[in-house]
Amino acid sequence: MIGVEAFRIIGGRKLVGEIKVDGSKNSSLPIFMATLIEKGVYILKNVPNLRDIKTAIELLTSLGLRVENINEHTYRITNSGLTTLTAEYEIVKKMRASFLAMGGILAHAGKCKVSLPGGCNIGPRPVDLHLKGFETLGVKYKIDHGYVEATAKHGLRGGNIILDMPSVGATENIIMAATKANGTTIIENAAREPEIEDLCHFLNKMGAKIQGAGTSKITIEGVKKMTPCEHTIISDRVVAATYIVLSILFDGDIIVKGVDKEHLNGFLIKLEEMGLKYEISGNNMRILSNLNELSPINVKTMPHPGFPTDVQAPMMTLLSLIKGISEVNETIFENRFMHVPELNRMGAKIDINGDSATIIGVKELYSADVMASDLRAGAALILAALKAKGSTVVNRIYHVDRGYEAFDKKLKKLGADIERIKVEI
Ligand code: UD1
Repeated sequence: MIGVEAFRIIGGRKLVGEIKVDGSKNSSLPIFMATLIEKGVYILKNVPNLRDIKTAIELLTSLGLRVENINEHTYRITNSGLTTLTAEYEIVKKMRASFLAMGGILAHAGKCKVSLPGGCNIGPRPVDLHLKGFETLGVKYKIDHGYVEATAKHGLRGGNIILDMPSVGATENIIMAATKANGTTIIENAAREPEIEDLCHFLNKMGAKIQGAGTSKITIEGVKKMTPCEHTIISDRVVAATYIVLSILFDGDIIVKGVDKEHLNGFLIKLEEMGLKYEISGNNMRILSNLNELSPINVKTMPHPGFPTDVQAPMMTLLSLIKGISEVNETIFENRFMHVPELNRMGAKIDINGDSATIIGVKELYSADVMASDLRAGAALILAALKAKGSTVVNRIYHVDRGYEAFDKKLKKLGADIERIKVEI
């Protein structure tokens, strides 16, 4: 028997106040990996304090970098050269984004050995597109005992890549490797997520020559040398969307601060379709409608700028409480409905049919012991528990700590009855 942390939440309390969105996890991770590229001192601001960031620090440290937390959300990373070119399984297995070290190490040294990340709860998540892209840049690789051993014998060279699908990670990994390649790289069908724009903004500040970030055609003209820089990470659009759902669930009594509207269009359009009225002034968002005024909708997850897969689970909690029938179609990951049986245990009425879910809105949810299967599923269950009658235990919240900074403390400030407890498994 081992003790793991869970949240005990007594739902039904009125939540009121302000909640602030932190810096983006999915932006911070590739940018942390990009500090592998060039020697020198980097300053990164607005970095969220999360388990995944701790894992990224562990990985960079294992490769010989020094990472210091110089104040709450600011880090100084010193790259005085890599002491090893191997990213070990023990670290990579904790977080798939560790595989992004490959692009950084290849740009730095032209060779590397990186553990394959393996599958995860939301699907097999292969890395074939990353590897195909590297091959086009002149990298030869073999897979041995779970590791990718890669070398660009004659140095990295530019090349033309058309991705089979707009993979976020593959786009980021290839961009990093291409920054110092000999010649120009063009990535077509590139992912267009704001986190890719943030990475390219950071790399261009270092002296990279990247054009087209945020579009599906990205051009990287290789340069010989880059210089470390200071950078402020963008705000987290998935955390923002989760907090917006929270505010809607509580009839708009929660003001969400740090919202970047431009990054949330695919989500906001759907809220508007539900009939939601809101106002955004500066980066603060206020919900003007009540929950019972909203209508059911159909949602299909798509690559950016479509509706984000990472918001699908929290959205499902919201749709569970909207009168009428909604549909959710998950097109990005194969196994991303693990929260559905858990929500159903809390009184939701959701039927899964392949990659679609039909949600019949219910009047209220009730408490039950449930389990977070992944990060966003965990967020969805916490939102449900805050609305549910009675005392809910959300188990395996280590998933939630990977992506939501101090979620329990922030909810407590709004008036939630939430407690971090230890349970035996
Ligand atoms: C990133 C995000 C994650 C988000 C996802 C989709 C980070 C750290 N994580 O993950 O939060 O849910 O984008 O928006 O930024 N695929 C392949 N072969 C590959 C690569 C991907 O088949 O080589 C498939 C995946 O299995 C998946 C789809 O492409 O079905 C999308 O994956 P991808 O965009 O690569 O997601 P990640 O970068 O892993």
